[in-house]
Amino acid sequence: MIGPKLIQLPTLSDHRGGLAFIEGNTHIPFDIKRVYYLYDVPPNRERGAHGHKELEQILISLNGSFEVHLDNGSDKKFFLLSNPGIGLYVPKMMWRDLKYFTPGSVCLVLASQVYSEDDYYRNYQDFLNDCRK
Ligand code: TYD
Repeated sequence: MIGPKLIQLPTLSDHRGGLAFIEGNTHIPFDIKRVYYLYDVPPNRERGAHGHKELEQILISLNGSFEVHLDNGSDKKFFLLSNPGIGLYVPKMMWRDLKYFTPGSVCLVLASQVYSEDDYYRNYQDFLNDCRK
């Protein structure tokens, strides 16, 4: 199974500022079917607390920083995202917790599937049970 990994995105920076771009299946390993973003996350609030059966995602900090804690049922890793030129690839079957959002931070998410509640594990024990099948 492919694990989570940081992906350096193509960026162009000059005296006018920075520009980053992402093409599905070229710079990231899937076709982009959905884009969403998290913003105005109050201090000490956490997002995530779920896993996905099939969904793959790229998380990018467009502003500020936050931590992404990942758990595949046997190993845990965490990543601090603070660079808009770097994406975190999150494969399927990963429990994730997003925390420690700094004020004004924005988390952009590129997703391989449209929204489907059926793809979620909302219960950690259900997730673990399926990881061990
Ligand atoms: P959720 O994925 O649990 O958000 P987070 O991980 O950031 O805490 O989604 C929160 C709610 O938003 C949930 O009721 C489903 C809804 N939602 C959509 O309708 N479409 C979407 O694309 C997403 C990501 C969430």
